[in-house]
Amino acid sequence: MCGIVGAIAQRNIVPVLLQGLQRLEYRGYDSAGLAVVHNRQLQRVRSTGRVAELTKSSANTSGHLGIAHTRWATHGVPSERNAHPHLSNELIAVVHNGIIENYEEIRARLTAQNYIFTSDTDSEVIAHLIHSHYVRNHNLLLATQAALAELVGAYAIGVVAADNDTHMICARKGSPLLLGVGKGEHFIASDVSALLSVTKNVVYLEEGDVAEISLHGYRIFNAQGVAVERPVHISEMSSESVELGEYRHYMQKEIHEQPQALADTLEGVCNSQTLVPGIFGAEAAATFAQIDSLLILACGTSHHAGMVARYWLEEIAGIPCTVEIASEYRYRVSVANPKTLVVTISQSGETADTLAALNHAKSLGHNHTLSICNVPESALVRLSKLRLLTRAGPEIGVASTKAFTTQLAALFLLTLVLAKLRGRLGKEEEQRHLHALRHLPSAAQAVLKLEPEIAHLAEHFADKQHALFLGRGLHYPIALEGALKLKEISYIHAEAYPAGELKHGPLALVDKDMPVIAVAPNDALLEKLKSNLQEVRARGGELYVFADAGTRLQSSAGVHLMQMPEHAGYLSPILHTIALQLLAYYVALKKGTDVDKPRNLAKSVTVE
Ligand code: AGP
Repeated sequence: MCGIVGAIAQRNIVPVLLQGLQRLEYRGYDSAGLAVVHNRQLQRVRSTGRVAELTKSSANTSGHLGIAHTRWATHGVPSERNAHPHLSNELIAVVHNGIIENYEEIRARLTAQNYIFTSDTDSEVIAHLIHSHYVRNHNLLLATQAALAELVGAYAIGVVAADNDTHMICARKGSPLLLGVGKGEHFIASDVSALLSVTKNVVYLEEGDVAEISLHGYRIFNAQGVAVERPVHISEMSSESVELGEYRHYMQKEIHEQPQALADTLEGVCNSQTLVPGIFGAEAAATFAQIDSLLILACGTSHHAGMVARYWLEEIAGIPCTVEIASEYRYRVSVANPKTLVVTISQSGETADTLAALNHAKSLGHNHTLSICNVPESALVRLSKLRLLTRAGPEIGVASTKAFTTQLAALFLLTLVLAKLRGRLGKEEEQRHLHALRHLPSAAQAVLKLEPEIAHLAEHFADKQHALFLGRGLHYPIALEGALKLKEISYIHAEAYPAGELKHGPLALVDKDMPVIAVAPNDALLEKLKSNLQEVRARGGELYVFADAGTRLQSSAGVHLMQMPEHAGYLSPILHTIALQLLAYYVALKKGTDVDKPRNLAKSVTVE
């Protein structure tokens, strides 16, 4: 999604803006631009395509105050004229992330006042609206506050004025934005990775905050316009953690980081002898004692993690669990049970639909809320009563990999803690699960050793248009996740089905051009799955079977077998996912797609 960077300093800030935009490239974008204040004029440079293009075009631009943006098109095609910053009368420049819902009405009003619109975006109204107030009051802060009061929708914005080289204004509501605090210089950004080379001291703006930023300080006002203090956090993220290093793509790097990410996420738990609710927050024990069911809300890959968890929670902890796509839940008329624990899962913690679903749940009277999230200061974490932070580190590739497996690890911990509180986990069993969790990072490492074999297997997919993924039980969501990975980075149409559903429709698709990928661990459903696979072979379908060590399945003509290093029991979905991530990665490599920044997609989906 769109990314924002802004800076005010005594040095030329153009390199800071460009480097910040580069760091935000992973969020997904199709055009980029910047504007600086120089000699009481706005200098604007915009380009479609990569930040590298913008860097070339900005060679002669310099200034001490400026804002920059990567745009992910929502209103209006990706083009230079729709790229941000948007200007009003060469006086006001604005960058915007989010969607303004009432822009048509404002646009009509401003057009009647002779404002000339030069883009198809919803964002341009913000620039003209601020301008309409600024020409009256000559105060950029007040003009922005007045304009924001007229907007309906979500925004993070950065604002500068040509005749004000001492202040920049920013604001957030529904989209993330933070301030970077330097020595005699200040910054704004959509996320901390954009600022790592200039400062690690950051202030997260709260919903509705507006800030006025100068060289030597900043003032923050809440939604009611009252001056407020927000704490300064020291980011733990390092510059190296967002560098590519020896890897060809971030996705490959992040797949390989999984053993460490799992170890980090499980660190506190694996070093202790017993599981305690406190890992979810101080109020967890009291909350868990009151609940009788779970409602998991998430999107995309995070939703798949929830689907796996449902199998664990109902089987191990014996607690009813529903899993819903956040964007559906938020608009559905549902019956709230106040004894339900609402669990939201998100890598970014800024996914608009997940945030809205959580707010919707709260509005229905759900007070027990828990988030599983990879970004400590995200809106989702701040909105939830309880939390467990995955410690996957920054995930740059659009395709979620280490975030997913660490979410699964966190959800397994939740399952065990609830099982224990509900008297369903004996001492011995607890130790057995803890042992399996301690072993998980090395089991994940062993899966990575299959990389050359999986790369070889991927060659079979380079000329395919479609693929079908099958799984059963716990591994059905893994089939879904494998299909999602393949489609998002290789653009091969992929679908996933619970294997038992095959004969109820999708079998009609199977022929020699339809590769079928089966997730086939050594579990109680293997025999059933075997029959489903025979149904595929009988129709000439080529099978790619991901089985466990010691499997009873065998390779044969049209059946390609890949053996996982071990059967990991309940944790098997984590290992099988890693294999499918590698498959998708190598198919995408073969197809020559942009693995880390697949077309049309964004990393954090901060709009509805
Ligand atoms: C998966 O590879 C995705 N890119 C996507 O489905 C993602 O999981 C989804 O947008 C949710 O994001 P979140 O975890 O940050 O909320």
